[in-house]
Amino acid sequence: MHGLKRLIIFISMFAAISEAQYLLPITKNETTKQYYTTINIGSAANSPVNLLLDIGTDLSWLNCRKIKSLSSLHLVPCQSPTCKSIPSNACDGKHCLYLQQSPFVKNHTVSTVDRVVQDKATISTKVSFRPFTFSCVAQTHIQGLSPPIAGVLGLSPGEFPFWRQVTRAFNIIPRFAICLPSSGNGNFFIGGGGFGVSMTLTPLKIVGSDYLISPTSIYVDGIPLSLNPSLLESGAKLSTVVPYTVLQTDIYNALASAFTRKAIKIGMSEIPRLAPFKHCFQEGSSMRINEELMNVTSVEIGLPGNGREVKWTFHGKNTVVRVLETVICLAFVDGGEKPKESMVIGTHQLQDYILNFDMSTTRLAFSDSLLLHNFSCSA
Ligand SMILES: *[C@@H]1O[C@H](CO)[C@@H](O)[C@H](O)[C@H]1NC(C)=O
Ligand SMILES: *[C@@H]1O[C@H](CO)[C@@H](O)[C@H](O)[C@H]1NC(C)=O
Ligand SMILES: *[C@@H]1O[C@H](CO)[C@@H](O)[C@H](O)[C@H]1NC(C)=O
Ligand SMILES: *[C@@H]1O[C@H](CO)[C@@H](O)[C@H](O)[C@H]1NC(C)=O
Repeated sequence: MHGLKRLIIFISMFAAISEAQYLLPITKNETTKQYYTTINIGSAANSPVNLLLDIGTDLSWLNCRKIKSLSSLHLVPCQSPTCKSIPSNACDGKHCLYLQQSPFVKNHTVSTVDRVVQDKATISTKVSFRPFTFSCVAQTHIQGLSPPIAGVLGLSPGEFPFWRQVTRAFNIIPRFAICLPSSGNGNFFIGGGGFGVSMTLTPLKIVGSDYLISPTSIYVDGIPLSLNPSLLESGAKLSTVVPYTVLQTDIYNALASAFTRKAIKIGMSEIPRLAPFKHCFQEGSSMRINEELMNVTSVEIGLPGNGREVKWTFHGKNTVVRVLETVICLAFVDGGEKPKESMVIGTHQLQDYILNFDMSTTRLAFSDSLLLHNFSCSA
């Protein structure tokens, strides 16, 4: 498991695409369930900025007042190729403007302060590249992000996400991996790819600025839910900002009733809902859920693999959440009858897995839960 912790920097002197891997930290705010990384922006020796990880954002944005020294920051002219390649950019007559929608507040409109800028970025403490293109936004657009987070690091499949700017700058394989910690610090890798654990592959579907996977069935303790197949057709979006997986009502209900039957069978009793959760259970006096394993019912998603179905298995720590000493809730949310996406897989489900988004093959590689290996993203 040392491979996970080891920082591998291999700077190729040749033009060939290298296997270099850059490692950045991921920190979880326990209160807000927001995950962020830290990079240095600007020419100052040490100018850390904390940015929310969002795999649905293309161009990174932040409150540029949080940058220690603005001396090397420069505006991007409207006529530059960079500005022209940013979809739906605007121009104040001279400088390029762009407002990336916040993952939390969707209705902002671009204003003259939302400028596209470039500066030096430093990752892994010593490795720098420039230009890093991002945008500065007005303070009012930061709402929804809690301190110490100053903005959003875009990791979408688009043209300008941070990972793509890094892999282009260093001519490394266009891929990145995240290991979201359930507590403390996890890891964010760019390039490279050896993780020392076995990984399962499934195709990624790119829709707009989102990554989706294509579930073919959902199982509870190995038994498939009976679902109208059209419900799964649109795929499942992956999100690093949604805390709990959101399911269309019919999918949610099927999952919740299968889960409830199992929970009652192993001695739990259903109790009234505790928002935002709809299905909560009291542990029986004679039973105790093993805190490390949270050994309750497993939920699996069947996915297309290499010519056969592969399963992504979620165990107790990813399927339930402990809300009181003896009470656990099913950690999924009912998204309503007609949500925009019928499945959005959120961070409670994604944490303690290694997820490798490989855009050289447009595939997602996912590990087993590291908890099964007596390991976690923060270990
Ligand atoms: C954005 O939407 C929120 C909630 O729907 C509303 O309260 C707010 O006034 C809107 N802001 C703008 C700038 O339209
Ligand atoms: C987490 O977010 C809360 C709510 O905004 C904030 O008060 C707190 O300082 C943050 N915690 C850490 C460790 O940054
Ligand atoms: C969970 O694990 C604990 C300790 O290993 C065991 O006592 C308990 O019966 C298990 N519960 C279930 C539901 O399997
Ligand atoms: C898991 O880790 C704990 C503490 O680090 C250790 O006591 C235990 O023996 C380990 N279990 C296995 C199966 O490796």
